[in-house]
Amino acid sequence: MSTRNAHITGWGMAVPDQVLTNDDIAKMVDTTDEWIVSRTGIHERRIANSDQTTASLASEAALRALEVANLHPGDLDMIIVATSSPEYIFPATACVVQDRIGAVKAYAFDLLAACTGFVYGINLASQAIKSNGANNILVIGSETLTRLVNWKDRNTCILFGDGAGAFVLQASEEPGGVLSAVLRSDGSGANLLSVPGGGSPHPASMQTLYDGLHYIQMNGREVFRFATRVMVEATFETVETAQMTMDDIQLLIPHQANQRIIEAAARGLNYPMEQVMVNLDRYGNTSTASIPIATVEAIEQGRLKPGDNTVLVAFGGGLTWGAALIQWTGPLPFQKKVSPRLVRGYARGRSILARLRRRIEGFIWGNG
Ligand code: UT7
Repeated sequence: MSTRNAHITGWGMAVPDQVLTNDDIAKMVDTTDEWIVSRTGIHERRIANSDQTTASLASEAALRALEVANLHPGDLDMIIVATSSPEYIFPATACVVQDRIGAVKAYAFDLLAACTGFVYGINLASQAIKSNGANNILVIGSETLTRLVNWKDRNTCILFGDGAGAFVLQASEEPGGVLSAVLRSDGSGANLLSVPGGGSPHPASMQTLYDGLHYIQMNGREVFRFATRVMVEATFETVETAQMTMDDIQLLIPHQANQRIIEAAARGLNYPMEQVMVNLDRYGNTSTASIPIATVEAIEQGRLKPGDNTVLVAFGGGLTWGAALIQWTGPLPFQKKVSPRLVRGYARGRSILARLRRRIEGFIWGNG
């Protein structure tokens, strides 16, 4: 019987142009560039402008990933958007993306596992492909977390940035692709990193606004301790599951939260920092988007090549954590070049027509 493997065949990122430096933040709260750099490694982050949203950044990253994979959006079977800063509470951001890029055959849903969401999504997509449930899947991590940040809270406002990254996963019988994954959660730590307002126990009200429950709340020290432990555990476990050792891994791509967390993880793994991808200095913590953004830049810098083994490892609110080991491949061979971007114009027209049809049907049948 043939084996189906889940290969990463496309990748793309989208970040806003607007840069917010540490010095800019020092004008808002009692902090300094020196403190932020020494405690986090972050120098600057990107901030979405008023026209940019989680779905618009996600759609842009998605189109770039489809271009690399040379895949028509209409050939997608599934779209997963991992996000903690969705377009709406519902419907799913993934449905907005589905409509925008013209993925007419895809089912689409959001995945909430905070900063580990992208790694969860990769595992879900890989399992769907391996079990014959889908051939072509888009996994996106997209965030506008700066919209959930309290710009008066120096503990959190220094950390987060906006952006999106996407992978295309495709079925192929060639060896490689997603080789193993380890995913965990521990809801006993739910209070350590959360946005408590606007949900079921605290529906949005003047009081929740007054109490600032719509902002990110975090116990930084506890999250820090948890992160350094689980990054090491999850990486070792996923490498072991694939019957490899750290010597077989050419590049480690960790969630970009804090330089000190990443360095502690590398020490715990006894793994050289030169083989660890770090770009949080320029983007801050973009949550679910941090790993795909770091991957895209690693490829651009020639640090991740076909045949290399890489481990993606993340931790986040929930608490959640996980890792995935991927043997990197690249686009599948193709005969004819496709233009996913051209489909976008068609998708917009299709979407307008579908809305119009609903209005006409409502007019004919009555609205109830
Ligand atoms: O995707 C997951 C997202 N979350 C994380 O990754 C968070 C993980 N945690 C961290 O990255 C770190 O805990 C922080 C960067 C958030 C904080 O660094 P720290 O070295 O753990 O600092 P701390 O919380 O232990 O605070 C040390 C001191 C405190 O003052 P006192 O109580 O010792 O007088 C803070 O009030 O630093 C103070 N402080 C600041 N000072 C200047 C906290 N934030 C700032 C700031 N500027 N921005």
